[in-house]
Amino acid sequence: MSWQEIIGRCEVRFRIRVTGPVPGAGASRVFFATRVRQDVVLKVGLDETAVIREVNALEELSGRGAIRVVDCDPSIPAVLLERAAPGQPLASVTDDGRATEIFCSVLDRLDPRPATGTHESIEQHVSAITRYQETRGPSGPLPFPWVARALEFLRGLVASTDRPVLLHGDLHHGNIVRHGNGWAVIDPKGLRGDRHFEVIQYLLNYPRRGGDVDLVLRRRMAMLTERLALDAERMARWGVVKGVLDACWALEDGTDWHSGLEAAERFARCLVASESQAAREWMKEGTSAVSGRSWRRNDATFHGGC
Ligand SMILES: Nc1ncnc2c1ncn2[C@@H]1O[C@H](COP(=O)(O)OP(=O)(O)OP(=O)(O)O)[C@@H](O)[C@H]1O
Ligand SMILES: [Mg+2]
Repeated sequence: MSWQEIIGRCEVRFRIRVTGPVPGAGASRVFFATRVRQDVVLKVGLDETAVIREVNALEELSGRGAIRVVDCDPSIPAVLLERAAPGQPLASVTDDGRATEIFCSVLDRLDPRPATGTHESIEQHVSAITRYQETRGPSGPLPFPWVARALEFLRGLVASTDRPVLLHGDLHHGNIVRHGNGWAVIDPKGLRGDRHFEVIQYLLNYPRRGGDVDLVLRRRMAMLTERLALDAERMARWGVVKGVLDACWALEDGTDWHSGLEAAERFARCLVASESQAAREWMKEGTSAVSGRSWRRNDATFHGGC
């Protein structure tokens, strides 16, 4: 079916009129539309499972800052959402301290509760690391001590999560949008697990906003620790896991994996700074194992966001 046919089917099914694409929208196709004097957003191009996941997560997070689902049809597959207006993303707030304040208030409002629906677990979500270990192992391109360390951290973090909650799963600067006088959350993946994982994608994005990468990361983590009573060491360990996960995903997609490893290393430096004896020891061991930092890009340039 062509895009025109899909949109036509949605217009009939949801009784809407599509007015045009949302500028700059990503992988799935997102359109502005109207329905009986109501402004809505139509999202198509996701597969059926992704639509069901997104709708389940939005409905469970409803009343806690998530955008409202107006209708959905997994058979198309398509979802119709209330339109956030004026709709600017959190990325438009360039003062990093202010953006992190807003992020904290959004996360606080999401008020983590035990997941009631069937959502993917964090272990399933990060399974690309295990896949890498099993299929590529020490002979693959990633420095293996980092892969092993990420898996060790993952096991410890999962075993010590006594209260798995529903997570948005992709809570970054682009998925928090201005809505009236406040902010709304869009585009959840819907995961079940440790709340500390929820902040990692925010910490990874725009890593140089307002200072050098280490300074920005530590300042954000300090705010999250203070405002949301999160544990800095758990955040840093999840950061190492996510950095290695991003590297594994990049390899699976045939794209550059270095920035994932660079992120893992940034979080590892926070662990060392937190004066954890164990962290200092493994960093020493990790450094010797990646001696000469041979995994780095030749030009050693960091290509993070602004
Ligand atoms: N309910 C909404 N109200 C207003 N704007 C929206 C809404 N839903 C999505 N958008 C806009 O469309 C963009 C893409 O939507 P969304 O994040 O849901 O899809 P996506 O394809 O997963 O995007 P990406 O992969 O870039 O995260 C958002 O960044 C936002 O600008
Ligand atoms: Mg998005």
